[in-house]
Amino acid sequence: MSLILAIETSCDETAAAIVEDGRKVLANCVDSQIAIHEKYGGVVPEVAARHHLSAINQVVEETLRQAAIKPDQLTHIACTNGPGLVGTLLVGLSCAKALAWSWSKPLVTIDHLFSHVYANYLDSDLEPPFICLLVSGGHSQLMKFDSYKDGEILGQTFDDAAGEAYDKVARLLGLEYPGGPSIDRIARQGNAKAFRFPEGVVEGFNFSFSGLKTAVLRQVEKLEEPLPTEDLAASFQDAVNRVLFKKSVQAMESAGIEKLVLAGGVAANSDLRKRFENLQEEGKARIYMPPLKYCTDNAAMVASAAHFIGEEAGLDASVYSRSPSRRKAKSARLKN
Ligand code: KG4
Ligand code: ZN
Repeated sequence: MSLILAIETSCDETAAAIVEDGRKVLANCVDSQIAIHEKYGGVVPEVAARHHLSAINQVVEETLRQAAIKPDQLTHIACTNGPGLVGTLLVGLSCAKALAWSWSKPLVTIDHLFSHVYANYLDSDLEPPFICLLVSGGHSQLMKFDSYKDGEILGQTFDDAAGEAYDKVARLLGLEYPGGPSIDRIARQGNAKAFRFPEGVVEGFNFSFSGLKTAVLRQVEKLEEPLPTEDLAASFQDAVNRVLFKKSVQAMESAGIEKLVLAGGVAANSDLRKRFENLQEEGKARIYMPPLKYCTDNAAMVASAAHFIGEEAGLDASVYSRSPSRRKAKSARLKN
């Protein structure tokens, strides 16, 4: 049995959670900094790190209180150590190290990107094998999981991540931060067929979103004020989601697996969820999507990942800003 306290501070959410055996969430606390970074139109790393520092102790205490758990009942202390903002990651890791040392618990460090996948195990009966579409602000990947560990990367973005494209286009359209949810909201009033933006198709199960972003920019330059913002948002969203959906279905077919798992912040997108819900209703696949609170950054998913794939780290553990797979994809692209 595991009872894990996890901490997540990779970007602008100070989060802690306690999860039993990787699935049962006893407490999940998130202190969001959206209101703080809103006026800058994006996350300011230094401001984020300072805010984590002042919030972290309270968030951890509140998590223990809500779960009604005493430190000596915990089996491990887990924490995200990358990829993310170095300054913010260091706050979470330092806190986790201090707790692990003072409570004599093993420390487990977890990759943020991977932890998004494990959000699907929370309060659910999910079991491998499955295909995972992982779409966040920093990554877009299709993966195949044959076991609880070791997801094989089938494809990934060559340039912008899906969430990054949502955020950049939202800024271009003058929508408020964070961009993804703004586009999701106003696209509901727009016509997705008003503009035909390119899907940005690249070979295999890989993606490319930077051409699409430029296509929206060129279109905006041609239009006169006031911009048809709803139609632009809906048409852009349709182009992103069309390719995410199509490649996910192709990956399932090619792997002979009829189970798909959605993960990452963009998995909160209502149009994308609808597409996969329809697929499930047609009886073509079993779809798992985390509830919205587990799609965006949280620590419950970190605790779940620690249960299934956690390896003990020393008190000399460090943080990293970019994921090794993204670094590899970029350098492969540069060589071609
Ligand atoms: O997973 P996440 O919370 O943080 C990272 O690890 O990056 O993902 C954040 C990303 C942002 O780019 C945000 O705009 C996007 O997820 N996002 C959405 C929606 N909610 C969050 N994108 C589209 N539609 C949404 N409803
Ligand atoms: Zn994330």
